[in-house]
Amino acid sequence: MKKKKTLLYNIIFLAFCGGMILFLWNAPEETTPFLPHDPDHEIFFGIGKKEAEKLCVPCHSPEGIVPLPADHPPKYRCLFCHKR
Ligand code: HEC
Ligand code: HEC
Repeated sequence: MKKKKTLLYNIIFLAFCGGMILFLWNAPEETTPFLPHDPDHEIFFGIGKKEAEKLCVPCHSPEGIVPLPADHPPKYRCLFCHKR
């Protein structure tokens, strides 16, 4: 009886690991554009991530000069996805 339970837990664990790998595999990492190296973005390379992210919004908002695409993923923490 005890052995059967252990086997069951092992299967659940393996299924969970498989799910995690698939999830990470499908993450948008590869296609995400990097933070550009130009005069608009140069200042963000020197300062902390959290500070930098507060400053993105004035330019990258619906009223800004470069609005985010309509299909843009959830937009908190810009620099986790848009690597420097
Ligand atoms: C002064 C205004 C301004 C600020 C502030 C700003 N951006 Fe931009 N951003 C632009 C402009 C203009 C473009 C389009 C031209 C270009 O690609 O450089 C752009 C383009 C981009 C792109 C697209 C690059 C590509 O390869 O297509 C990304 C990603 C981006 N910005 C991220 C950020 C992030 C993250 C922040 C905050 C850390 C930020 N921007 C702050 C003006 C700004
Ligand atoms: C969850 C990951 C993620 C986060 C967080 C995120 N982005 Fe993006 N962003 C992407 C991906 C992926 C794309 C490409 C979308 C596409 O091509 O349709 C993109 C595209 C963009 C573009 C357009 C680039 C182009 O070439 O047109 C800009 C500008 C941008 N993001 C700015 C930002 C800003 C500013 C923030 C923070 C407010 C932010 N992003 C947060 C993943 C993210």
